[in-house]
Amino acid sequence: KAGRRRKDSLRLSGHRHACHAMIFASCPDKVFGKIPVRYAVLMQMRFDGRLGFPGGFVDSRDGFLEAGLNRELSEELGLQPGLLCLTEREHVLAHVLPLHRDRPVVAHFYMRELSLMQLRDVERAALRACEYGAEVMGMVRVPLYTLRDGVSGLPAFLCNSFAGTAREQLLWALAARRLLPPGRLREACEIARVPVP
Ligand code: GTP
Ligand code: MN
Ligand code: MN
Ligand code: MN
Ligand code: MN
Ligand code: MN
Repeated sequence: KAGRRRKDSLRLSGHRHACHAMIFASCPDKVFGKIPVRYAVLMQMRFDGRLGFPGGFVDSRDGFLEAGLNRELSEELGLQPGLLCLTEREHVLAHVLPLHRDRPVVAHFYMRELSLMQLRDVERAALRACEYGAEVMGMVRVPLYTLRDGVSGLPAFLCNSFAGTAREQLLWALAARRLLPPGRLREACEIARVPVP
């Protein structure tokens, strides 16, 4: 487990906390009938034109981190409270982001694997989320393959703009859960000229 632990990060004073989650599912689909998709990994196109994970700032009414995360997930994914309830057990990373409006932010990251059917339900519900069309401009799945031109697919995706440290979180998750072979991941990072996790 890289970065700060959940418990240690809660002792920091004067920091804001933000929680984001990667929801993913194993996916048997093939692109053009031959290139394995491997996993459906959910991200979103945000209001600011950057890609990020669903989630957001924890605030004083939330009480604890996961209450804030689950509130943000219901606002941004339109989930009935309880349908996709993340817990402390799914916390995988915490690290400090550069200053945001003169206060440092601790970015907490969670991962939850669903069945492909459940993930499709999450995608459908997102269209009816209260923040859809406002904070959230669309749900996207991350391409995990590289096409024969050597750039299209994951390398091209990694060249997008990402909110905060979302790209680092994505790469960390792909490596930690081995969602694609380490060699392929390294190659994609090198082509995109982004640090290898
Ligand atoms: P508001 O309600 O408008 O404040 O948005 P929010 O609560 O949904 O917060 P947001 O999701 O924008 O995230 C809060 C902070 O984390 C901002 O400083 C973002 O730049 C940053 N951020 C946004 N998405 C991600 C992400 O996926 N990963 C990381 N590490 N940071 C992110
Ligand atoms: Mn077509
Ligand atoms: Mn939000
Ligand atoms: Mn958000
Ligand atoms: Mn918010
Ligand atoms: Mn908001």
